[in-house]
Amino acid sequence: MRRRTRVAVIGGGQNCEHEVSLASAAAAAAALDPARYHVMALTIGVEGDWRDERDRPIGLAAAVELLHDCDVALPLVHGPRGEDGTLAALLDLAGLPYAGSGLTAGAVAMDKWVTKLVAQAIGIATAPGVLLTGATAATYTWTHPVVVKPVAAGSSRGVRRVDRPGELADALDAALALDRRVLVEDVIEGREVDLAVLARADGTRIVAPALEIVVAGGLFDYDTKYDGSAVFRVPAPLAEADRKALEHAALATYDALGCRGVARVDFFVTADGPVLNEVNTTPGFTGRSQVPRMFDAAGIPYPELLDILIEDALAGAS
Ligand SMILES: Nc1ncnc2c1ncn2[C@@H]1O[C@H](COP(=O)(O)OP(=O)(O)O)[C@@H](O)[C@H]1O
Ligand SMILES: [Mg+2]
Repeated sequence: MRRRTRVAVIGGGQNCEHEVSLASAAAAAAALDPARYHVMALTIGVEGDWRDERDRPIGLAAAVELLHDCDVALPLVHGPRGEDGTLAALLDLAGLPYAGSGLTAGAVAMDKWVTKLVAQAIGIATAPGVLLTGATAATYTWTHPVVVKPVAAGSSRGVRRVDRPGELADALDAALALDRRVLVEDVIEGREVDLAVLARADGTRIVAPALEIVVAGGLFDYDTKYDGSAVFRVPAPLAEADRKALEHAALATYDALGCRGVARVDFFVTADGPVLNEVNTTPGFTGRSQVPRMFDAAGIPYPELLDILIEDALAGAS
């Protein structure tokens, strides 16, 4: 019998998306075909402590030893100290191939300000915005509705729409509590549409059918993300010109950032075409999350999506 591939599935993490990452990792571990894969689950606690698959606390050095026993890693830690390239860097140093983006793409995509600059450089529209810090926040004068958000967070934590000047200070405080830098962006009026790009081991790329998020209250906030009240429409009903523009922009952004594996590229579709919102190099990955739903609509069921990611990681290593 062929030896099963040993996959380290890494979840958890030291940020506000810890629980979401646990759910992504648990779903992936359960969906990996046991005839082909031996799963080793590793969890990073909110305090940065590592735990083995029996939830026993282990140190980082012991975790790296366990990683050395694996053939490949599937890192599913969303947000800072995970998706932002830190976990990719650890795996690079440990010499273990892994699914998904490397250090640079993870770090750049996690930074909504730098992502904006890259998008601008390749002609992709983003929301006009200014960057503020604790030192400069007081100099900002509200003149029109804006969205205030941390430069690097996730799951809508610290993201607030500010329609009245009196709401600005609280919104800035909430965002600055999560990041030293915050973005104040113009409100983009448009439909929220996500694209997913996946690279295969042979170098070809697949763009899954677009997904539209239909939110009753406007902002896709934390509760709406996880209480099941948002409706996902896959494929999103789109005019042919919008669909083409979105696919082009998603691929161009994926390439400009140097992404690998799967990335979710989120847009607003406006009367003037797509406006890039953000790029997720470790998107939500439960069976019900956007990316698996999009690939399912492309005829690639969740277990096969995992196969493709692992194959690509192993091919890159050889
Ligand atoms: N400039 C904007 N205009 C309108 N809505 C926005 C804007 N920026 C963010 N939003 C809303 O807030 C949500 C969360 O913001 P986002 O930047 O995607 O943060 P996160 O990384 O936490 O998902 C988006 O899904 C969208 O509904
Ligand atoms: Mg988002």
